[in-house]
Amino acid sequence: EEPVTSADQPPLAGVRHISVIGAGTMGSQIAMVCALAGYRVTLVDLSDSQLQSAREQLQSRMDRDVARGRRRHEDVEQAMRRLATSCDRAEAVVDSDVVIEAAAESLKIKKQLFAALDREAPARAILATNSSNIVSSRLAEVVSRPERVVNLHFFNPALVMECVEVAPHDGTADHVIETSLALVESLGKSAVRLRREVPGFIANRLLSAIRREALELYDAGVADVADIDRAARTALRHPMGPFELMDLVGIDVAYMIRMAEYEQTGDENALPHPAITRLYESGDLGRKTGRGWYTYDDS
Ligand code: 3HC
Repeated sequence: EEPVTSADQPPLAGVRHISVIGAGTMGSQIAMVCALAGYRVTLVDLSDSQLQSAREQLQSRMDRDVARGRRRHEDVEQAMRRLATSCDRAEAVVDSDVVIEAAAESLKIKKQLFAALDREAPARAILATNSSNIVSSRLAEVVSRPERVVNLHFFNPALVMECVEVAPHDGTADHVIETSLALVESLGKSAVRLRREVPGFIANRLLSAIRREALELYDAGVADVADIDRAARTALRHPMGPFELMDLVGIDVAYMIRMAEYEQTGDENALPHPAITRLYESGDLGRKTGRGWYTYDDS
């Protein structure tokens, strides 16, 4: 019998309760990862129906994993019990040791959120952002505890992907970096540590180089989207090609990442590629809407 981890014995000393803000694709899976690791978690969203649908999606993911023998039924049940949902952010974070913000990729929204979290969360709490592109120093500006602000960047699908980038800003305290690294390990993930912050961190910068080339090849009519993806899969052994990956992550996310970079740098080269803007404006956001670069009939 494996020992049962209860909220009284958190996997990492000093981290009893984690709040995750935003029940979208990333936030809901991040919350599940934390609950599976043994933490007491509250997933927070403005919308009750969003929370409801996040819970349903997570439950069906978990059921599938159990059915395929990937997880034990009792582990999933316990994790589900450790995972609460709430529309009341202030109440959720009041006893949180770590808050992971996974809201929309907008500097304005994140600044408002961090200012609020700074008032609502206890002084000891680490305020982490899952932002892909907005560096934590920009959010540290609006709080009274800049030394407790850090980027903890998960990858989609967060239940599956091993990597979490830990990106401190210049003023992040060493003990906060150490706790963040230990937290990532305790989640069964593998931490990639940045020594210095940079928008996009490491993985998304590598990805955006590939994506830029892919879009140039597409624009120039060199090959179809499906063939460019096939080259990435079969010649480079990437699990997905760049276009399939945009559909998985979401065209809206791809668009907002570029806009956030533009907002931060003012560099017009950062603006989204016209083809991405076109898809974004037409509402073809990838798998979640059933159509992006490809058409899906299962969603
Ligand atoms: N959510 C949770 N679990 C998922 C999932 C999802 N969306 N998609 C797949 N899985 C899990 C399931 O357990 C699935 O098994 P199931 O079908 O029995 O449920 C298992 O993975 C295998 O899935 P598939 O058989 O459908 O396909 P693959 O073997 O190709 O795996 C994949 C799917 C893990 C998504 C793989 O294709 C992959 O690694 N793709 C690349 C993903 C990637 O690059 N992510 C990083 C994106 S960049 C990012 O996130 C940064 C951000 O800032 C934008």
